[in-house]
Formats: sequence, structure tokens, C-alpha cells
Amino acid sequence: MSANKITVVGAGHVGATCAQRLAERELAREVVLIDIVEGIPQGKGLDQWESAPIEGFDSHVTGANDYEAAADSDIFIVTAGIARKPGMSRDDLLKTNAGIVESVSKEIARVAPDSIVIMVSNPLDVMAYVAMQTTGFPRERVIGMAGVLDTARYRSFIALELGVSVEDIQALVLGGHGDTMVPLVSYTTISGIPLTQFIGPERIEALLERTRKGGAEIVGHLKTGSAYYAPSAAAVQMAEAIVKDKRRILPCAAYLEGEYGHEGIFLGVPCQLGEGGLQRIIEVELTESEAEALASSAKAVRDSIGALGTGRHLRAEGPSTPRRV
Ligand code: LAC
Repeated sequence: MSANKITVVGAGHVGATCAQRLAERELAREVVLIDIVEGIPQGKGLDQWESAPIEGFDSHVTGANDYEAAADSDIFIVTAGIARKPGMSRDDLLKTNAGIVESVSKEIARVAPDSIVIMVSNPLDVMAYVAMQTTGFPRERVIGMAGVLDTARYRSFIALELGVSVEDIQALVLGGHGDTMVPLVSYTTISGIPLTQFIGPERIEALLERTRKGGAEIVGHLKTGSAYYAPSAAAVQMAEAIVKDKRRILPCAAYLEGEYGHEGIFLGVPCQLGEGGLQRIIEVELTESEAEALASSAKAVRDSIGALGTGRHLRAEGPSTPRRV
């Protein structure tokens, strides 16, 4: 199973690596890379296509500056925006990236009104909100990538700590994609065996702290940008679940309509992804402290949405009316 066309918006490190992963897995017949910078998407797209005979894929990768090339895409992975530099929080990116994501979303709604949007740009939960408001798409078709990345980081740290395979670690990281994210220790198992049977609370807390700061750890090393290998792998795993209708349960940022006691915001929760995008949100039982942590994460996201400024995004501009504003 593969899609007809998947478009990646933003040909920076995250976007270009997404395109490469999509093509190498043949998840779409056509992979389109779009960027406003003249020549970059064309050059990277052609370079990737020229790797096809060696890597053995037939997904045709191309690049363009305008959205006509993205017409009728099944899925958009949106990575456009400025990236974090050392010392910057994800929220520092808020206003600049909101403007960029708003204009990208208008184009998406214009050229592919039935598409599914996977939001990657930061601050993630707010950018997903901007995309939903601007496109007017229902919540099934606007999903944010964060939980898969945060959970992958958590799993990779646990694998190192315990000296076991990453494949045997199941975990969930919920909440906003920021310092308030909520790794759920009670749902962290190694082949079904609770993490708490392997290590004590202090070592667990160190893993949680490293996970919460995982994005900043990479920014600290790179200095001139933020992570892209793991973020692109996460976005492409979500696209694969949708394209192949795998019905995977993955932590993603979804628009809440009362789930977990919150509504009107995007927040990381366990989602079933398959044909059509978001198929359902699963409400898991939380301990009291986990529920409190999720509530403060929700508050942080709500405050960031508030910081966008009143009125600007609180109207539908797309082809249909959003469910709630
Ligand atoms: C990260 C940035 C991209 O978590 O949010 O790496």
C-alpha cells in the first residue's frame, strides 16, 4: 500500500530527511518537497531521485517553490518555520512560525482540500492548532508529531540504561511537546515487564528528565539548529500508519474535544492512526500525579495559544467550519 502523493513542506534538514525516508520506503508514488527558497527543493529533490537506482525505490522525488506541484496530495508533512537555536525555547518561535504555518495552511486547503496534515513545525501543539483553524479541516485530518519523537527518545535512553533492545521497550509520552511533556512510567514496560522492576525511582527520574530535555540536548550539540533524524523518522512513521491503514496506536498531538478533561487545544494523547488520519483517541487511566502533570501541560499549551493574540486565528478561513474554536 502506498499513497499517490505526499508533500513535505520545508526543505530544511527535517523536511529533506522526511522526503528521503518516504521515498526509500516507497510510501508514495510521488514525493514532493516544497520550500520558498529558490533552487533548494529542486536540488534536494533531484539529488534524492538520483539515489533511487542505487537504493532501489521508484517513488519519484521532485522539488518546487509553488504549491501547484502539491495539488491533490494525500498527506502533507509540514516542517516549515525557523528552528531553535541554543538558548531558545520552542515558544520563542511562536509568532514567526504561526505566520509561516498560516500561509502554508491556506495553500494546502487550496490545492488539496481533502488531504491530511501532519504538523512538525514548533511550537508543535500551537502550530497544529493554527493549521486546523486555517485549513478548516476536521480534527481527523490535522495531527501533530511530537509524542512519537519524545517516546522514541525515552525508549532509546531506557535501552541504553538497561542494555536491552530498543524493540522491546513500550512506552507513552503524553502532553505538550515541551518541558511539560508527561512520560508515563506506569505504561513503560520491557516486553511487558514494568520498568519499575528493573530500576529504582532515582534512575527512572534521570531518564524522564533527559527525555523532557531531549530536544534541547541535541540543540546544545548542533548549536546551529535542532534535531532532524529522529523527528523525521517519527513523522514518517505516522504517515506510514495512515497510508497503510495500519491502525497503529501512537502518541500524537490531537485536537481534544473533552478527552482527558480538556477541549479546544492540541495535546499529546494516544491516537489510533490509519485510513483517514486520526481514527480515535484512547483515554488511558492516569495516576493522580500523571493527571496533574497533564493538566499543567495543557495549561502551558493553552497559554501559548493565547499568546498568539486574540482573534487572529479564531476564525475559519478554510473550506469548512472547524468543530470548535
Ligand atoms: C526537538 C525539536 C525539534 O524536540 O522540537 O528536537
